[in-house]
Amino acid sequence: MKRPIKANVSWVGYLDWELESFHGDDYSIFNGSSQNAYLIEEEKTVLIDTVWIPHRFDFVENLEKEIDLDKIDFIVANHGECDHSGALTALMEKIPNTPIYCTQSAVQSLKGQYGDRGWDLRVVKTGDTLDIGHGKQLVFLEMKMLHWPDSMATYLTGDNILFSNDAFGQHFAVEELFNDKADQCLLYKEAIKYYVNILNPFSPLVKRKIEEIKGLDLPIDVIAPSHGAIWRENPMQIVEQYAIWADAYQENQITVCYDTMWEGTSKLAHAIANEIHNQSPETVVKVFNVAKSDKNEVMTEIFKSRAIALGSPTVSNSILSSVAGFLEFAKQLKFKNKRAAAFGCYGWSGESVKILKEKLAEAGFTVTEEEIRSQWNPGKADFAQVPALVKELIAK
Ligand code: FEO
Repeated sequence: MKRPIKANVSWVGYLDWELESFHGDDYSIFNGSSQNAYLIEEEKTVLIDTVWIPHRFDFVENLEKEIDLDKIDFIVANHGECDHSGALTALMEKIPNTPIYCTQSAVQSLKGQYGDRGWDLRVVKTGDTLDIGHGKQLVFLEMKMLHWPDSMATYLTGDNILFSNDAFGQHFAVEELFNDKADQCLLYKEAIKYYVNILNPFSPLVKRKIEEIKGLDLPIDVIAPSHGAIWRENPMQIVEQYAIWADAYQENQITVCYDTMWEGTSKLAHAIANEIHNQSPETVVKVFNVAKSDKNEVMTEIFKSRAIALGSPTVSNSILSSVAGFLEFAKQLKFKNKRAAAFGCYGWSGESVKILKEKLAEAGFTVTEEEIRSQWNPGKADFAQVPALVKELIAK
């Protein structure tokens, strides 16, 4: 059903309360999500984005209940990823000649995914405009690598709405649609998780794009992303927050991550956490067994941290696969300005700590000299090394 956003702009997307993961199973979802599409009905009727492939027929059926599809003058595809373009396949069967405005890269991604279906794809660049009547225009703004090369935002003059697509979104279902109606704790939690897991690798570009958006000096009354709550109360709060997150963000937090085979590495992890608290009581300490914790939530805690300690026992001359996966993901997310220490138990060859240190450095962490390698079970001599490791780890 069409839901009013502002003036002649409505939401026509899909609220997905049952969705449990995204990007396959690479992004966990605990509070639902949405694919937001928007309808603008001025002298011209414009559809901004669609929804994910599984909901394509419902989307078209619902849209048909609201308007005569032949009345849609233009479609804007801000991004080719199938959670926003998926319903085009069903929609374009009904209105095959309707022009679709998108970036040059989106021509590639749309044709790449759906084949060349003869759609009228019209390429736009930053600053290009489209007149929609009643004195209003759409202004296009390329958002390259936020988070795909084809990403774009569209600004509606007069109503001052920025349709930002993935940027400023959250995987978070809000039945009432708006940020001021959402649970504020969950809204922040989901917005930062989304930033960390989807946008953090592109933080330098986020910084530059925010400067560019501010430089345009456009009045912004509403930021309407393609997932989650729509920012209508103090919409610039999320832009300011992105500027902070994009700037090598950290809080006074240290996170201890580990996996363990026979509890030895776990004992070291908890001793390190306890010692961080002893030496720096004002620092927030969090501890995760990475094999038993949600990886996206753990990465969000790493993002908030100024340092981490990472532990794995040695297994088959290497590290546990859960910790190897953690390190690969951390490398992808390109964290900045974070210190790291390594620890672990072993029985025979004992390579894990050396491997952890190498991989932490590869992932961009500043690795401490101090380390703890404990043969068999950690004993007095091993625990005696904890204060020195923590001292180096917490150093400002
Ligand atoms: Fe929400 Fe990049 O798709």
